Amino acid sequence: MERTLSIIKPDGIRKNIVGEVIRRFEAAGLRVAAAKKIMMSKDTAAGFYAVHKGKFFYDELVEFMSSGPVLVMVLEGENAIALNRKLMGATNFKEAEPGTIRADFAESIQFNVVHGSDAPDTAAFEIAYFFSASEIY
Ligand code: CMP
Repeated sequence: MERTLSIIKPDGIRKNIVGEVIRRFEAAGLRVAAAKKIMMSKDTAAGFYAVHKGKFFYDELVEFMSSGPVLVMVLEGENAIALNRKLMGATNFKEAEPGTIRADFAESIQFNVVHGSDAPDTAAFEIAYFFSASEIY
């Protein structure tokens, strides 16, 4: 069993595809162990994406992630980190496999609908960034 952090980004919320995205996670065998809809402040978004600080897209990314509500979730299952990333598709939607969330719904490399942790250490950091242990079931 593994846990990973998933975010449905402001563009995904605006497109009203929360149910469709979660349906895909559940159909693939992942379980929603925690979920909350929040509005990230700029500071919260900046801290979450601190690993990208200094990159050319960082400021716009922080702006985008705090531009509207997001759904943050903990997904649980076997190989949850890799499975979630497979379901999302490549960061750049043009390189995403057909049938993945980003291939089907993303509009640009920035507005790519979902975020998912990329490794066990980042998953641990990202889950703890939004959830306390008592909020995860
Ligand atoms: P995410 O998987 O959340 O990780 C970092 C985010 O930065 C990425 O999805 C995109 O939303 C955004 N981003 C914008 N431009 C780029 C880029 N050129 N390369 C990678 N990520 C980018």
